[in-house]
Amino acid sequence: MELTQAMNIRRSIRSYTGEMISKEQLDVILNAAYEAPIGMGKYDSIHFTIITNSDLLGEIDACAAQFFGNPSMHPLYGAPMLIVISSNAEGNVASANVGFILQNMALAAVEEGVGQCDIYGAVAALSRNKKLLERLELPEGFTPLGGLILGQTAESYSEREIPEAHRFVTNEID
Ligand SMILES: Cc1cc2nc3c(=O)[nH]c(=O)nc-3n(C[C@H](O)[C@H](O)[C@H](O)COP(=O)(O)O)c2cc1C
Repeated sequence: MELTQAMNIRRSIRSYTGEMISKEQLDVILNAAYEAPIGMGKYDSIHFTIITNSDLLGEIDACAAQFFGNPSMHPLYGAPMLIVISSNAEGNVASANVGFILQNMALAAVEEGVGQCDIYGAVAALSRNKKLLERLELPEGFTPLGGLILGQTAESYSEREIPEAHRFVTNEID
């Protein structure tokens, strides 16, 4: 798949069959993560937690729903895998690192035909819950900054017309 096509058809998927992605698909997506640019090459400032434990996913989902003030919502959308990305660095470089990683993973997931969605709300909720945070068994000094859900989906990726509203306000200085 051409990169420009993958970027065009990528969208957030919020409906999952519950079926796990294959090990081969996960490997492709993780390898894409490892290809991301990282500020000053500090690869050891990043930690991945791959969660497939359905009890823990359910607890994070419920914690996030409470965080959003709507116990009936499912902020993990029933996806069977959540990858939490943590860092021991602070500031905009740490945030940017996570963003670059997530976009690489998302594009690889699109190429694999796998459902994906960035997850920041549930990760923020999880970070504020001491008991749940402990369950991630993170190395000392690491804080979750973002996440990605992955799973098989009945939805498909298809060509998108990008709305005018997506064009960022831009000024030009000659
Ligand atoms: C930094 C960031 C955080 C996001 N967090 C969430 C989230 O917690 N839950 C969610 O459903 N979508 C989340 N999204 C997905 C955005 O809502 C989505 O990318 C945006 O609405 C554009 O839609 P598209 O991805 O389908 O193009 C996040 C996206 C970004 C870039």
